[in-house]
Amino acid sequence: MSSARVEKLLQSMTPAEKIGQLIQYFYFRLPERGDPSMVPPGQVEAVEAALAAGRAGSLLFVTDPATSNRLQRQAIAGNRHGIPVLFGFDVIHGLRTIFPVPIALAASWNPELIEQSQAVAAREARAVGIHWAFAPMLDIARDPRWGRIIEGAGEDPYLGSVVAAAQVRGFQGPHLGADEHIIAGPKHFAGYGAALGGRDYDEVDLSDQELWNTYLPPFKAAIDAGAGNVMSAYMDLNGVPATGNRWLLNDILREALGFEGFVVSDANSARDLAAHHYAADLTDAGARALNAGLDLEMAILDPAFEHLDEALENGQVDIERIDTSVRRLLSAKEALGLLDDPFVDEQAAQTVLNDPAHRETARKAAEESAVLLRNENDLLPLTGIGSVAVLGQMANSKRDTLGPWIFDYDLEETVTVLEGIRAHAAGLETPVEVTYAPGVPSPVRLFPSMFDMWGDGSKTGENFDSEAELSRAVEIATAADVAVVVVGERQDMIGETASRSTLDLPGEQLALLQAVVATGTPTVVVLMSGRPLDLRWAEANTPAILQVWYPGTRGGEAVANLLFGQAVPGGKLPFTWPRHVGQVPMHYAHTRSHDPSKQGRRYWDEESTPLYPFGFGLSYAKFAYSNLAVSSPSTPVDGVVTVSVDVTNTSGRDGNEVAQLYLHQRYGTASRPVRLLKGFRRLHLRAGQTERVEFAVTAEERRYWSAATRDWVLDATSFDVWVGSSSTADLHTEFTVTD
Ligand code: NOJ
Repeated sequence: MSSARVEKLLQSMTPAEKIGQLIQYFYFRLPERGDPSMVPPGQVEAVEAALAAGRAGSLLFVTDPATSNRLQRQAIAGNRHGIPVLFGFDVIHGLRTIFPVPIALAASWNPELIEQSQAVAAREARAVGIHWAFAPMLDIARDPRWGRIIEGAGEDPYLGSVVAAAQVRGFQGPHLGADEHIIAGPKHFAGYGAALGGRDYDEVDLSDQELWNTYLPPFKAAIDAGAGNVMSAYMDLNGVPATGNRWLLNDILREALGFEGFVVSDANSARDLAAHHYAADLTDAGARALNAGLDLEMAILDPAFEHLDEALENGQVDIERIDTSVRRLLSAKEALGLLDDPFVDEQAAQTVLNDPAHRETARKAAEESAVLLRNENDLLPLTGIGSVAVLGQMANSKRDTLGPWIFDYDLEETVTVLEGIRAHAAGLETPVEVTYAPGVPSPVRLFPSMFDMWGDGSKTGENFDSEAELSRAVEIATAADVAVVVVGERQDMIGETASRSTLDLPGEQLALLQAVVATGTPTVVVLMSGRPLDLRWAEANTPAILQVWYPGTRGGEAVANLLFGQAVPGGKLPFTWPRHVGQVPMHYAHTRSHDPSKQGRRYWDEESTPLYPFGFGLSYAKFAYSNLAVSSPSTPVDGVVTVSVDVTNTSGRDGNEVAQLYLHQRYGTASRPVRLLKGFRRLHLRAGQTERVEFAVTAEERRYWSAATRDWVLDATSFDVWVGSSSTADLHTEFTVTD
């Protein structure tokens, strides 16, 4: 369905003008610190020429309002109808205000907070002229070697779906085109997270049952929430490239999931149909992508869709198919109000970017997303100490505090962990002395990252005197009451093209940790990472571990608040934390299979249980679950069962807890996972407070796709129910489902 205005425009356009609307270009304007040699020469000039010729309908990577207005004027002058361009961008975890990375936001298990965070990101983006975010990334990830695990919500389809819908609401607001909001672009359709060996871009082979039960639900949730765009994935899915896969982009996305917006390719992925040795040449690539269901091609240079004129002439595509895509793009521009006013207010943009309320939301998000993994003898929060030694290069790195996938950040106002602790300690009634040493040199990648062109990849510290620095670290740790060792992966070691073959702490960080622990000073590990790392040594030898991810602009302040107890950790893991890389892929929702009693002993050389289970996270407060009840011991197949439970804060301090409900189907058309998350609630409970929480278990929650019938099924069977604070919750009840 489109408006009379769009139809009128469409009727007056030539085929060449229509094709121009279906092409999107990067517009690379690197900051001063960037490396221009990594951008194809003449790229910007070629894009401006395409605009002048009416052969570009959309651009990406423009974040400066003045440039946006200038390019918009060129675009409007470049086509007879004055159609403006749509500006898209990777607004992944904020634009100027940097939020914790997406996996961290998912770890908050707080959909309202996630929605609020993406609404702030949308507000800043829209203010500078960005109309559309290439986010949220909805790829389920069960192999943490894959660097892009950081961009999603982890391993679980239920959590992933709730987080997906919250992000779409945050970006888009109450409706597509709402003031101060932008289009959400869920990606990458579909299955990208299952890349073979965790190697970015490698092929994916997924059974239908995995697709339907695990990989597609977050996309369904995003589409049901009204997402205006979807991005196709890079890799081959079951032997057919996702971007040229008609079954995927048409039968699944449009017909089964009901998507009505426009589909964009991933960068160069339409052109790449030829690189995959799937399409014969660029004309074939363009035709096959369009015929498969792609609407807009994202390219750096020389897009395959530039060859659609030829494909049209020789009958590889027809004009009706082109019209369908143009209609979708024009409708998006109309919905955003661009056909009336495509320009931005350059002055007002600065006010929005500097809004202090945005920074406050970011701090709160950082506090709520931290996950306390270990806290022996309640070492945390730190009280009654006179001095703290902060150690590790990442403790004092502004760029690493922010994490990957950001471009428009402000380092000046970014608060590192060291700075946060210093400021906090100075404000205490009895000030705490803070000392700092990096201890060991910064680790670096073996192969550079493609993001190095932005000029902020990790570099070896020249003149770093390893021996002297390690001794200094040991010296200040020995002298302090408590040591806080900040370790993890540099920001360029995680994200796109940041897959790795081990989960070790990179570089010499473990040696630093071991040297500090050997001093006998109580040691807190603060972990900055976007994937689980091998923490077996730390788990066995340190009393406290706090996962803070990459906490963003106000991250250091949030971490200090958490360490000193002004904020209480309440985040939970959105993925299973393996002990060792050899265990991956690993997820909690496996089936029982043969010999289930030996599930923890599938390897002879290491436990096959996780180090920390999915949904796990401690708090300074303590919680107890009781009075678990079901509304009825049995229900008809399409009925609803209400599960209720009392959650009590049994401690003397207020805190947050995430109550989680897991189901297990005992028998039926297929063997079902040992547990599946089917409900959760983040609660704030005052000391001593009890809250009764209710979860509705609907037929939808019990439905699944079965390879036995090759269809959706709802079995008449029995269910186990567990409610508690992680996927290993043991408070149990049950109900049956009758025909
Ligand atoms: C490639 C990435 O796969 C995708 O997620 C991103 O949105 C585009 N590049 C644009 O930067």
